[in-house]
Amino acid sequence: MASSSRMGYQSLPQNLSRASLPLFPVKIKNKNPRTAKPGVLQLGKPLVVSTSKVEERGVEFETGDSFFRHESAVGRDLGVLAAALQRRSLGGGLRVLDAMCGCGVRSIRYLVQSEADFVWANDAFEGNRGLIAFNLSSVAPRVSAGGERSWVITHYDANRLLVERYLLRDYFDLVDVDSFGSDSSFIRSAIAAVKTGGLLYLTSTDGFSSGGHRPQQ
Ligand SMILES: C[S@@+](CC[C@H](N)C(=O)[O-])C[C@H]1O[C@@H](n2cnc3c(N)ncnc32)[C@H](O)[C@@H]1O
Repeated sequence: MASSSRMGYQSLPQNLSRASLPLFPVKIKNKNPRTAKPGVLQLGKPLVVSTSKVEERGVEFETGDSFFRHESAVGRDLGVLAAALQRRSLGGGLRVLDAMCGCGVRSIRYLVQSEADFVWANDAFEGNRGLIAFNLSSVAPRVSAGGERSWVITHYDANRLLVERYLLRDYFDLVDVDSFGSDSSFIRSAIAAVKTGGLLYLTSTDGFSSGGHRPQQ
């Protein structure tokens, strides 16, 4: 029998109407009309994946088929704590860019536990879209009661998104880059997207820390 979490996730198409799905703030011209537009949600595709409900520090979410490591919880804790302190020092209005969000666990933790006012959740893999949308809408409406956007989802290469935000002078109080392997190819564009006085949080799975620290040695 399917678990309740699976049922919840599979019922996404009924719960989440076309109109309520996040729109992309930047439209990309499709040079080849015979192929799918890059970065645009394929609404015809079923949003059904094998899925499992996970709990981390009191927050529940689905991991679906995305990459997710329980062992990285402490790394996520530190980002959430830093973001919460940043928000406190700013007096509110915290904007976070989660450049490689996977299932969106950090984004939802920034929204719930750091009380981020806006989170940009990005992952290059478009197949995670329904999952991320499900997780984010479980914790916060896409548009707040005051009419402000609480979150947005995109599927760009992280460097492209970070540089694009920089060029538009749309800076963030905290930029989170959680890459596979080394973060070295993202550091420059990530710094560019951080507000003056903001925070850059870099973590990497299967990679050494960018500061050269080798915990095992
Ligand atoms: C280490 S996982 C992120 C896990 C997630 N932050 C978490 O805490 O569970 C890296 C993610 O980055 C995505 N990814 C890989 N290369 C990317 C790129 N160049 N730009 C954006 N996302 C990328 C992958 O699809 C994957 O979901």
